[in-house]
Amino acid sequence: MTFLLAIDQGTTSSRAILFDTELRLVASAQEEFPQHFPSSGWVEHDASDLWATVAATARAAIEKAGTGASRIAAIGITNQRETVVLWDRRTGRALHRAIVWQDRRTADLCERLKAEGHEPMISARTGLLLDPYFSGTKLAWLLEHVEGARARAEAGELAFGTVDSWLIWNLTGGKVHATDATNAARTLLYNIAENRWDDDICALLNIPMRLLPEVRDCADDFGVTRADLFGHEIPILGVAGDQQAATVGQACFQPGMMKSTYGTGCFALLNTGADLVPSQNRLLSTIAYRLDGKTTYALEGSIFIAGAVVQWLRDGLKIIRAASETQPLAQQADPSQDVVMVPAFTGLGAPYWRPDCRGAIFGLTRNSGPSEFARAALESVGYQTRDLLEAMRADWASAGEAVLRVDGGMAASDWSMQFLSDIIGAPVDRPKVTETTALGAAYLAGLRAGLCPPPDEIAGKWALDRRFEPKMDDSLRQAKYARWRKAVAATMEAA
Ligand code: G3P
Repeated sequence: MTFLLAIDQGTTSSRAILFDTELRLVASAQEEFPQHFPSSGWVEHDASDLWATVAATARAAIEKAGTGASRIAAIGITNQRETVVLWDRRTGRALHRAIVWQDRRTADLCERLKAEGHEPMISARTGLLLDPYFSGTKLAWLLEHVEGARARAEAGELAFGTVDSWLIWNLTGGKVHATDATNAARTLLYNIAENRWDDDICALLNIPMRLLPEVRDCADDFGVTRADLFGHEIPILGVAGDQQAATVGQACFQPGMMKSTYGTGCFALLNTGADLVPSQNRLLSTIAYRLDGKTTYALEGSIFIAGAVVQWLRDGLKIIRAASETQPLAQQADPSQDVVMVPAFTGLGAPYWRPDCRGAIFGLTRNSGPSEFARAALESVGYQTRDLLEAMRADWASAGEAVLRVDGGMAASDWSMQFLSDIIGAPVDRPKVTETTALGAAYLAGLRAGLCPPPDEIAGKWALDRRFEPKMDDSLRQAKYARWRKAVAATMEAA
């Protein structure tokens, strides 16, 4: 028996999942790590925590499975995207904590670049927008604020990477400085039409190109692990950003197929095939995957707060003790109340892109209580997904017919998925395997290793757990959605 090891380095935890070559889950391990909030809107991770938890969980999963590292044919890496690490090539030490995708510290820089008229050029080349979400301005901030960083970067002493690059560097003992096309596509520095780092954008952000990793396919050779790490060298053969890995894990290989993952945030990706579709509706154009040098593109809608709203009910409001209490609480909500929550805790993502907005709640009465808050929180995830789908339908006509495949923690809530189907007015499919992110990474590694069949064949193995069909009356659907749009408009107005 041979196995594939998926490393999933996420925003709040690192996980390692061992699959057999039929892509059945064999063993897994997970570890959380501290989040650092040094200032309002700032979010950092200790880069050494990211690496230490990855190494520890990988060892733990291998141990649990009792396979030994020699039977692991390949590693696939998937990761929180856009988060940046800057490190010393000689010592392998990070110069600063990693700046996380959620971090808003470069909002002013983005505003300035927008005011100077650079957004159309940057959008056309990268598919992204001038928002602090992406890596480029975060890297520019590090070069500006870490003492000596710029001179050392120019002298070639430093390396930049998204989390995948940082892990590859550590796994290979500093032998490989590489990334894959999907992670590169999130940096704001990568020209996705021409598949190369963009000299003009790097010059604009004052980023020396010597810092940048080499960009490879998603199923490619990323070197081998240090023998002393797991007791045996293991080749790294697959890499993709977590949302792109989930797109692969959901077998969305045909143009028009769409997935939405409900983790901390919610990220919907619509496969647009070989066409790079520029968005007219403030969505992102991005790389879904690159295999054998052939790029498949996607339209992406990114929402910053989805599952995190449930965390807030638990840790902020303290009206639940566990996430699983949310659904039963929401079900008890008074149907005559119309409480709407706009969870813009870290600003609004697609299609609004307002880093300055903060959360708001509307329609409270003296009878409003925990149940109405819980329902409003879960409904906000459905409304935000509809915002994305409206924009996708406007950008790409065939998106109208697409069935939405869902995964991530919140997809387990039947109530939430039924509301989602009701509010988007289309079917929602939940697969049997909801570990789609890790599955996608394992598959990419297995594909390169010659152990997994090509995409069209593996797509046939995707299995449905349950389809949710819309049941809500159309006039109610439109009325509820109109109320949401008003609430968002008022939230933006108040910012
Ligand atoms: O773009 C950010 C995304 O990749 C983070 O995903 O699942 O770690 O919240 P997650």
